[in-house]
Amino acid sequence: MSRPRFPYSVFGERFTRPTGALELMDDLGRALGGDADVAFLGGGNPAKIPAVQALVRRRLREVAEDPAALERMVSNYAHPAGDLPFRRALASLLAREYGWALTEDHIALTAGSQASFFLLFNLFAGRTRDGGLRRVLLPMTPEYVGYADVGLDDGLIVSRRPAIDERSDHTFKYRVDFTSLTIGTDIGAVCVSRPANPTGNVLTDDELARLASLCRAAKVPLIIDGAYGLPFPSIVFGRATPLWNEDIILCLSLSKLGLPGVRTGIVVAHPEIVAALTNMTAVLNLAVGSVGPVLAQPWVESGEILTLGARAIMPYYRDKALRARELVERELEGLPFRMHEPEGAFFLWLWLPGLPIPSAELYRRLKAAGVLVLSGHYFFPGLDEPWPHRDECIRISYAQDDETVARGIRILAREVRAAFDEANAGRAGRRERPSAGAGT
Ligand SMILES: Cc1ncc(COP(=O)(O)O)c(C=O)c1O
Repeated sequence: MSRPRFPYSVFGERFTRPTGALELMDDLGRALGGDADVAFLGGGNPAKIPAVQALVRRRLREVAEDPAALERMVSNYAHPAGDLPFRRALASLLAREYGWALTEDHIALTAGSQASFFLLFNLFAGRTRDGGLRRVLLPMTPEYVGYADVGLDDGLIVSRRPAIDERSDHTFKYRVDFTSLTIGTDIGAVCVSRPANPTGNVLTDDELARLASLCRAAKVPLIIDGAYGLPFPSIVFGRATPLWNEDIILCLSLSKLGLPGVRTGIVVAHPEIVAALTNMTAVLNLAVGSVGPVLAQPWVESGEILTLGARAIMPYYRDKALRARELVERELEGLPFRMHEPEGAFFLWLWLPGLPIPSAELYRRLKAAGVLVLSGHYFFPGLDEPWPHRDECIRISYAQDDETVARGIRILAREVRAAFDEANAGRAGRRERPSAGAGT
């Protein structure tokens, strides 16, 4: 990066450097801003699902005609923990549905769950009074790129490799490797995304229960990132149960429901943690935006926020996953590829064993060819050991329309084939050259 006009502080240097999150959001902003005619299979933008769009449109009209709701939405600062009626309604819905003993004091809203992770990771990890460094443990990588750079201190994140369960010629599943998982005294919190971004993996109930009990024994909170999951927007294709208790911090969001523009993150946690987040929000933002909470309030009161997932959102992505999977299998036929079992969220995680170029180079070639994906190497935050696997994977989002996804996958297959062909031609050339030399 070039030198700034005026020198930056350590904080300034740290938070202005290029990151994976910046690259993906920059690609996303440009592609969806209409900057370029690319097949956008990058970013985590949700699809425009007609049933959700209709609901939002209707509710916006309703708010526009309701002076009290409009005032609440845009004319008043909310409480720094977030809009009170929304928090009350959500606590009572979750208590009713899952038997969790919640009140509004268990719920803090934030400016999107990315902001929740910034606050939570730095609350529990970082420099300690005695000069030590506490970290956040990711029990299994690949894991969400957005965690990588939120720490005020370097080295905030530490992570583990997964066990790989090979399912069929072309599919596999990552599993938490409990044989090597210990939670040392330097760990301040453990975090998992469920469903996982980038893999679409859904930790089983059993894996989650084991993690929760390890955390309880180590006296650290388990942060469950449910941005795609449970209880809403419920983009989970198989069976999985939402989990919460006072040792668990459940992070939810309105984004993947179809409302990333409103920037509403939701943290369900022990009141002491909610109070800490509230204090931090007052310093950072004064208050939390109320557009999302006021929009979603009636869906929370009626419980529709839960049924919408099962009725409209999950089937939409499940069908798209099936079509994307078939396309990948057809287009990459004959190439060495494996796909993570798509169990939720809206990504295909493709592993190309023996890929002759690093995935970051494949990303650049694909970008030049008009397709945006995400290079897999970003998704191993905190993993210090060398592992070729991390340069052999890419993430494809299938949230865009079918034509865009199909075009993107066709170009991807062409570029991957070209990379393998180049490498094979190079190897053949090297084999031939010595024998030609021997003849002269
Ligand atoms: C796993 C995961 N967690 C959290 C987020 C952050 O979402 P938001 O800040 O929009 O709530 C994302 C966004 O893509 C994500 O994929």
